[in-house]
Amino acid sequence: MQSDASLNPVSLWLDQGRNLWGSAPDKQSCYQCHGDVQTLKLAAPQHPKWSARLNRLVNLEDQIVSCSERTSRPLRGLENPDVLALSALLHKSSQGLPFKVSAPPNHAQQWQTELNAGAQLFTTRKGAMNLACTHCHDLNIGKQMRADIVSPGHPTGFPIFKMSWQSMGSIDRRLRACFSGVQAEVPAPGSIELRRLELFLKSRSQGLPIDGPSLRR
Ligand code: HEC
Ligand code: HEC
Repeated sequence: MQSDASLNPVSLWLDQGRNLWGSAPDKQSCYQCHGDVQTLKLAAPQHPKWSARLNRLVNLEDQIVSCSERTSRPLRGLENPDVLALSALLHKSSQGLPFKVSAPPNHAQQWQTELNAGAQLFTTRKGAMNLACTHCHDLNIGKQMRADIVSPGHPTGFPIFKMSWQSMGSIDRRLRACFSGVQAEVPAPGSIELRRLELFLKSRSQGLPIDGPSLRR
């Protein structure tokens, strides 16, 4: 289904992303400041980034929401279909490029602290099932879990169109689903724990090429 453009719902999201991105005649569009989307092909591989202005990590969807305030069409919410369509488009422009998250020279210490916090979260047991991410995504790779086969949890395929959601979703949403899977308290969308985990996951899969947006069961 993923390789058949006539069946793959992701292509509709990409069309929507291109409409939103805009072109030369569209005033106050993404295009007005950034030009062709290919000029931002290094954005998806490099996020989450440390924002000195906000004093926190921002992922690609956070940046899309914040940049949309600069256009005639401000967007609200990380799982807003328009935010996901733009995320799909930006990831598409980065397909094949490896993740390359790195410490900003002036804020190396803060960045390292965030990365360490992400590693800590990944290995800390949580929820009624008392499992850490590492128990599934390091120690049980390849095993069957209900209808799924546990993967290493490399975040290369995002954003994903998930059949069971009947929608596109960001990595933020997928990570929350894994918290819910072990019956742990689910962090709020956009919370700093999710950004720390995302940074750790991307650092752990440094060098693997982006192949999102993609399809999931
Ligand atoms: C008025 C100019 C302006 C508009 C319009 C604009 N941006 Fe931006 N964008 C910026 C600036 C400036 C930055 C640098 C970071 C910052 O200040 O937020 C940026 C950064 C980004 C980045 C991160 C780039 C990187 O390599 O880290 C992405 C992704 C992005 N914008 C996407 C968008 C999208 C999607 C839209 C349309 C919804 C958009 N931008 C509209 C000015 C703009
Ligand atoms: C009880 C086992 C279990 C635990 C614990 C768990 N997950 Fe998952 N996770 C899964 C299963 C099953 C899937 C769906 C199949 C797959 O892609 O691995 C999944 C999917 C994912 C994916 C998406 C992979 C993709 O390409 O679609 C990511 C990323 C992920 N998990 C990260 C995490 C993180 C981070 C934690 C800790 C907060 C965590 N998981 C905890 C079982 C688990």
